Amino acid sequence: MNRNPVYLALDLPRLDAAEALARKVSGHIGGIKLGLEFFCAHGHHGVHELHKLGLPIFLDLKLHDIPNTVAAAMQAIHVLEPAIVTIHAAGGRAMMEDAKAAAGENCKVVAVTVLTSLDDDDLTAIGVSADPHAQALRLAELAHSAGLDGIVCSGHEVGAVHKQWKDGFFVVPGLRPAEGKTGDQKRIVTPRQARDNGASVLVIGRPISRAEDPLAAARSIEATL
Ligand code: C5P
Repeated sequence: MNRNPVYLALDLPRLDAAEALARKVSGHIGGIKLGLEFFCAHGHHGVHELHKLGLPIFLDLKLHDIPNTVAAAMQAIHVLEPAIVTIHAAGGRAMMEDAKAAAGENCKVVAVTVLTSLDDDDLTAIGVSADPHAQALRLAELAHSAGLDGIVCSGHEVGAVHKQWKDGFFVVPGLRPAEGKTGDQKRIVTPRQARDNGASVLVIGRPISRAEDPLAAARSIEATL
């Protein structure tokens, strides 16, 4: 049986609440994603606490600095045995190569290309003339050639990216179950669609963490996969 690809994004400020939620749904997820906010607030201690659940840990730290510093940071988190760590592709080839070399054999190093919070004007303002889509493709290619395991991409892009990078490891956030509230979003991608399109990891936060019944939500997502 395939491992459950759902990583629960624990974007909760309190460690006890994060732990309780993860414990509740732990039988119906494949791993736990801890972001920069969690890591800055709870550090190694927080990660150790969540490790007790026995699930793989994804440290979404989006590292971006000079190669030497990023490699040293990778070594410093090595003791936490993360299954996945994110870095910024915009840090350049040498930074990505050194980060990958410093990660353990069992750690996937995955690149963030262009943050979805940035639009055309934001890129122009920082001197990037390409549009966000073209820039993301360019950085994905750079990440591939630098020897990274894969990239973070949207459910809309993952099919195309997978065709270009057959053995890539693709982390897909921003998913919404079909029966969930979509608000005014018309182009939602469901966990199942993302998986069918080649996603390796499905990052899911609020559809589980803010559900009235998180356990039922996690179970029903699992049942669609
Ligand atoms: O929206 P949801 O709560 O499911 O988001 C889960 C995680 O995915 C969050 O940690 C969020 O920061 C991340 N995310 C992302 N890029 C997006 C959308 C969400 O990294 N475009």
